[in-house]
Amino acid sequence: MSGHVLGISAYYHDSAAALVQSGVILSAAQEERFSRKKHDPRFPAKAINYCLEEAFIQASELEAVVFYDNPLLTFDRIAKNAVSMAPAGKEQFVEACRAIFGVKARILDDIAAVLGSKPRLLVTDHHMAHAASCFYPSPYDEAAILTVDGVGEWATCSLGHGRGNEIELAQEIRYPHSLGLLYSAFTAYCGFKVNSGEYKLMGLAPYGQPTYADRIRDTLIDVRPDGSFCLDTSYFGYLDGHMMTNDRFHALFDGPPRQAESPISRKQMDLAASIQLVTEEIMLKLVAHVTAMTGSRNLVMAGGVALNCVANGRVRRESGLEGLFIQPAAGDAGGALGAALHVSHQLLHAPRQLGTRRRDSLSGSYLGPAFGSHEVAAFLDRQEAPHHRIDDAAERASAIAAALADGKVVGFLGGRMEFGPRALGSRSILGDPRRADTQSTMNIKIKFRESFRPFAPAVLAEHAASYFDHVGDSPYMLLVAPVRADRQIAMTRSVFDGDDMLPILNQPRSDIPAVTHVDYSARLQTVDAETKPDFHAILQAFYDQTGCPVIVNTSFNVRGEPIVCTPQDAYRCFMRTEMDLLVLEDCLLWKSEQPPLEGDQDWRTEYELD
Ligand SMILES: [Fe+2]
Repeated sequence: MSGHVLGISAYYHDSAAALVQSGVILSAAQEERFSRKKHDPRFPAKAINYCLEEAFIQASELEAVVFYDNPLLTFDRIAKNAVSMAPAGKEQFVEACRAIFGVKARILDDIAAVLGSKPRLLVTDHHMAHAASCFYPSPYDEAAILTVDGVGEWATCSLGHGRGNEIELAQEIRYPHSLGLLYSAFTAYCGFKVNSGEYKLMGLAPYGQPTYADRIRDTLIDVRPDGSFCLDTSYFGYLDGHMMTNDRFHALFDGPPRQAESPISRKQMDLAASIQLVTEEIMLKLVAHVTAMTGSRNLVMAGGVALNCVANGRVRRESGLEGLFIQPAAGDAGGALGAALHVSHQLLHAPRQLGTRRRDSLSGSYLGPAFGSHEVAAFLDRQEAPHHRIDDAAERASAIAAALADGKVVGFLGGRMEFGPRALGSRSILGDPRRADTQSTMNIKIKFRESFRPFAPAVLAEHAASYFDHVGDSPYMLLVAPVRADRQIAMTRSVFDGDDMLPILNQPRSDIPAVTHVDYSARLQTVDAETKPDFHAILQAFYDQTGCPVIVNTSFNVRGEPIVCTPQDAYRCFMRTEMDLLVLEDCLLWKSEQPPLEGDQDWRTEYELD
């Protein structure tokens, strides 16, 4: 038997495919990177084809194909919810019936259309897929497991224990009581999109004060000492309609939701700070409970709420854990990987990939396609794009670092694409963190996104402690830590004054202002030479030239666009923005030397704003 298992997540948001062989992760990618539709929920045909091509295997060599969610359980939840809300939930029920008996019943047909035949299809429970996605790749033989999301089938939060090849999920919190949906309700109320705007709400929180936290605790959610909770569902609209919140919620918070793209006021900043604080409190209680329940000193986490890196940072600092591993593709895309790993380890008994060095087995999450020199050269020839090839890796890194030190903004495509929502130095836009104007330049001229949003630092792992109050690795940009006190600069204007964020934002806050948020925090990525040598070499060269081991690392895309995948995607994004330099593997392209892109004036209509 080949041991190849293909995992699939699809139909909700962030469809993805992952291929595992005998417990070894071979490849994983989100469909959006190929289809160029952000959070693409469609069947991941392109991602599946990529996974098979990467492994040079035919569909007939797959031992199993696994779907990450049990459609019957999901239908059970939707049907029972609709009955309990009748007649109000009728519309949802009809839609769910169409989904289950239409699309979901066609899972096998969809798979057969890609693979050429109907395979042996297995399903995992949704939260088991999340649990498997964080436990099996973790460096721990034994760990407490916590998965927290909006909802998957009935569960919104699962607590369990992983030992060797076995995962046992012992407790769960069930729909409609959901920490993910509570956070999403505030996301929607503050005028951001659900399933993508949660990051913005988290980024907004440091501008505010948690003045609404007591109102949330007293009215919306009853939290018990073990972290379990109960929502007062009479304030929410998601049970019987398409709105996250209802009139009662709006009355509780003194007015209607903020309209998308309208100015952000102090109210939204304070609401963001309030729901963020309540979320952190619940996460800390859940962590304390699951570690006490299992007696474990290690914790692994997944589910969309595990992408809340501010909460994760507090878990890291305050929970007293020995080990913490968070799946970087913590949302539903990671369910494809979890489903494949679950079948591989628990049903096919593949051994775990536990090394002696206490490293995870995700290979830095660099699990997507790479494009070699020949492919890049062929593209550049076709495009007739002026470029400079630098074969020597150290010389190339030095040239890129010199451009960064000179204030240039650099688009970088190198190696295998990242799996999960973060760019980790394979599909990244890079900048100099020491400049006060880098943040607004990159937000407004390059990413075309809201100016308040912070950027993240990538730092040489060995120098992380000299810039951040952080112990250990943070390779996946999933932990927020404070910038060290001796690097902070006191701000003359209080972050809590007025509605206008720009004067606050433009104050220098540290000697790396572009990656220091207004509360002196940073969402850091530690980079080591073994996992990501090309990116490490750029950081090292920047350090050698400037004495600063930190650079700005943000995803290579514009607002509303999926992160770039191919050299073509990267070139197009480079030409549409005010980036100065593009690196495609061993080739450097200067904007000043490029002819304009023909017929591309209307590109902004291509992507729906997120
Ligand atoms: Fe989920």
